[in-house]
Amino acid sequence: MIRKMASKVDNKLARNADSKMNSKLAYKAPITLAITGASGAPYALRLLDCLVHAGHQVYVMVSKAAHIVIATETEHKLPAQAAQLEQALTDLYQAGEGQIKVFGKEDWMAPVASGSGAASQMVVCPCSTGSLSAIATGASNNLIERAADVALKERRKLILVPRETPYSAIHLEHMLTLTRMGVVVMPASPGFYHEPKSVDDLVDFMVARLLDHLGVEQNLVERWGQSRMDGKTE
Ligand SMILES: Cc1cc2nc3c(=O)[nH]c(=O)nc-3n(C[C@H](O)[C@H](O)[C@H](O)COP(=O)(O)O)c2cc1C
Repeated sequence: MIRKMASKVDNKLARNADSKMNSKLAYKAPITLAITGASGAPYALRLLDCLVHAGHQVYVMVSKAAHIVIATETEHKLPAQAAQLEQALTDLYQAGEGQIKVFGKEDWMAPVASGSGAASQMVVCPCSTGSLSAIATGASNNLIERAADVALKERRKLILVPRETPYSAIHLEHMLTLTRMGVVVMPASPGFYHEPKSVDDLVDFMVARLLDHLGVEQNLVERWGQSRMDGKTE
């Protein structure tokens, strides 16, 4: 009887280990995406879409201001609560179970809050000048700021996509400080040389550059010199 019970427990443990293993193996390495309240919400949502379809697990954080910007700039009215937001984004991008994990502003138990649990790459897209300042000064007053601080202290890849115009000396100094620490500052400034036909083309230009920096394969936009290499032009 005791043996039977023990084997039941063993089987359960094995099943749990298997399902944990499968869910870990099912997705490529997690990437943290923090969405803050600068203009440019379409970049963030397209980036999330691409990361999910490239098979990555994505740790998502959305600031309060970002929710307002998303509602202003896109057709989406996303729920504020982390659990509902996670479900809404999972449905929106047809992500797998557990592929998108959303963490709240003060969820200090989230993996991104510590060097031992954080993803090896983090993007803040778009990055408000407020969040830029907090990251440059190590404020860590909310989970987005803390996650960026963790990325800095652990010397992990951190990419910021600020959007403001013009920039003040404060913004530029913060960007310089962070660049000197190894952060990749990629202002949301799409090029026009690929002859965009739509806003989506402009969004894809930025997202393609971001995916390149994250090492995620993409073919959203033709690469510079590609048509010449393919023998399409002289
Ligand atoms: C529609 C809208 C557009 C905004 N655009 C910008 C912007 O382009 N750049 C910026 O730095 N802040 C912008 N802001 C202001 C930020 O949202 C605000 O400073 C906020 O405190 C940033 O907080 P967060 O970094 O926690 O998201 C915008 C706000 C709204 C509502």
